[in-house]
Amino acid sequence: MKELKGLILSGGKGTRLRPITHTSAKQLVPVANKPVLFYGIDAMASAGITDVGIVIAPETGDEIRAAVGTGEAHGVSVTYIEQDEPLGLAHAVLTAEPFLGREPFVMYLGDNLLRNGINALVEAFRTEEPDALILLTPVIDPENYGVAELDGDGVKRLTEKPEVPESDLALVGVYMFTAAIFDAARAIRPSWRGELEITDAIQHLIDGGLRVDSHIVHGWWKDTGQVQDMLEANRLILDDLGEKLEGDLVDSRVEGRVEIAAGARLERATVRGPAVIGAGSQITDAYIGPYTAIGENVTIARAEIEHSIVLSGSSVTDLEGRVEASLIGRNVTITRGPTLPRAYRFVVGDNAEISIL
Ligand code: DAU
Repeated sequence: MKELKGLILSGGKGTRLRPITHTSAKQLVPVANKPVLFYGIDAMASAGITDVGIVIAPETGDEIRAAVGTGEAHGVSVTYIEQDEPLGLAHAVLTAEPFLGREPFVMYLGDNLLRNGINALVEAFRTEEPDALILLTPVIDPENYGVAELDGDGVKRLTEKPEVPESDLALVGVYMFTAAIFDAARAIRPSWRGELEITDAIQHLIDGGLRVDSHIVHGWWKDTGQVQDMLEANRLILDDLGEKLEGDLVDSRVEGRVEIAAGARLERATVRGPAVIGAGSQITDAYIGPYTAIGENVTIARAEIEHSIVLSGSSVTDLEGRVEASLIGRNVTITRGPTLPRAYRFVVGDNAEISIL
């Protein structure tokens, strides 16, 4: 088989992660302090794919270019492909056709995370040479995904987000294609949600008698499209964390697997891992509990937080209750004022969600 190219889809709207993604790309929200998108790029590099196209949207493209650059830091060479409107995954593939040419390619959805990477799957595609290879995994909510019905080893039918799923096998957001996918993408019509679905394009390959193989993914997989998924992905990645204490610890206690970046400072703090704390953060008289990722230049003082993601530049101070299962965006301030009467005072953006438990 010829050299494989890579295609990462990092356009789209990201409405479900609002308000975090009002002004920024959902693919850049960090999981364990590393943007989701970087996991996909690194998976490509690890599978020996170095010529990578990244599909970007007009609103968030510049931010993605700034974060990824030439791709050199990841060991790949990146070509940016602008998709004017988020008209679907198959539309993104057609937009990338001039870049992909006639080479077979691996397509990776920029908001997906696979624990075990894609090396074994790319190898199977290279040696078995089907027309397409899809990845499947059993889920409890198949109605939220593309769903596959199998017929022995073969794929019989694929349906995008069916109301009544015929199986619990969801399509994982990593696909391997030959150039046959372009004609299929051109042959289909937009779905009920107005998108050219890659699921329908693959079904078109099957209907045309082409060989579509499927592999069941072992090890976890996450589509980080929603806040709960993001926290869950954070938990799963942190579960594999090592231990690295580079910051300054003053009268502080660290238990379990914890990574503290150089330039972070902890004073009278307790950190119970797995947890990660980014450079420049100040943790003072505070408790950081398991499954928490604190970004760069964050202040946590006289407060407790666990099972949460805090993005860079934010501060959480003087709280009585413990913060849990929270996704806190960039440059957010959460604090308790010293004066009476006691009250809640909020300056919160559109579509935010606040729970007082
Ligand atoms: O995550 C797996 C699921 O991904 C599959 O099970 C579904 O079959 C598949 O359709 C897809 O469903 P989603 O509705 O979750 O896709 P989403 O709109 O979140 O887009 C996935 C990625 O592709 C995301 O990084 C945004 C990007 N994208 C999306 C569209 C619609 C583009 O770059 N261009 C687009 O036009």
